[in-house]
Amino acid sequence: MERVTGKKPHHFLRRGIFFSHRDLNLILDKYEKGEPFYLYTGRGPSSESMHTGHLIPFMFTKWLQETFKVPLVVQMTDDEKFYFKDLSIEEVERMTFENMRDIIALGFDPELTFIFSDFNYIGQMYRVVARIEKAYTASQVKGCFGFKMEDNCGKWMFPAVQAAPSFSASFPHIFPSGNRLCLIPQAIDQDPYFRLTRDVAPRLGYLKPAVIHSKFFPGLSGSKGKMSSSVGAAVFLTDTPKMIKDKINKQAFSGGGATKGEQLLLGANTTVDVPIQWLRFFLEDDELLEKLQHEYMLGRLMTGEVKKVLIETLCGIVTRHQEARRNVTDDMVKLFSSVRLMGPAKGAQ
Ligand code: TRP
Repeated sequence: MERVTGKKPHHFLRRGIFFSHRDLNLILDKYEKGEPFYLYTGRGPSSESMHTGHLIPFMFTKWLQETFKVPLVVQMTDDEKFYFKDLSIEEVERMTFENMRDIIALGFDPELTFIFSDFNYIGQMYRVVARIEKAYTASQVKGCFGFKMEDNCGKWMFPAVQAAPSFSASFPHIFPSGNRLCLIPQAIDQDPYFRLTRDVAPRLGYLKPAVIHSKFFPGLSGSKGKMSSSVGAAVFLTDTPKMIKDKINKQAFSGGGATKGEQLLLGANTTVDVPIQWLRFFLEDDELLEKLQHEYMLGRLMTGEVKKVLIETLCGIVTRHQEARRNVTDDMVKLFSSVRLMGPAKGAQ
């Protein structure tokens, strides 16, 4: 990555937060030879307000877009949340709009970024969706996702909808001349979709998309697995500095000693400590992170001091995000989601 881009890899790569991939080497080899790719990622709009964990794939995707100067498509799976959650179409559509504003606020390039809702764009990619649907069977979907016969038909069909943007044929207004390689940054739980996608691609005459996976962002209470918006144990992009401070101080699971004396004597277990884990995601300064971790482990730093650094870091990110979001107008959302000539179709990469 460093050789191809001439840039220090993002700290998510340096720290193994994006930790596995399929065919990334192929993408880089071809890019080096002058053959560009495109980026595809997505968001299931299941809550009005996104939390800090949701930022991870988008922050990384933004870095990839800036670094490689390639087109990006962002799929808002309003249909997915309608099939999988107890939400009405009106509710998911509202959340989609709010989440789009958050995504745009991260600073994606309007010349190279297309953000679309499935409900609105499905017509243009329906031919690709249909080809995919015909290429997999219900028993394959069952093997991949474990659906039951009682599950609604939307769920069984949806994997084809998430697969379709992996193929450039879904975006004739961006890639009029067809086959272009795709790279999909995602959290690891999305992998089954793209195993299925990669499986059907050759049969349809499409290129297998490359993927790169991030680990889950841990919840405040330190439980393993994906941080959920539903449990309230998350820091939201709408939280005030006071809310952030209270959440971190009261709820963040500490790997430090139970008392000051114990911490001085035994030090902290930094592998289970949530503030340290979160700082690995959000504190860019390698030296400072290393120093904090080291001193904390040796008992020279108290939990409260580590939490203080995390609170400052998060407040900075969230406040800047809120400012940027305030400047995202309805017209900008319209622009990013409009079907328009862009990227290669407009003469750019
Ligand atoms: N299913 C994802 C979610 O619930 C949304 C999504 C659609 C996605 N396409 C994607 C995520 C591609 C990563 C990559 O959030």
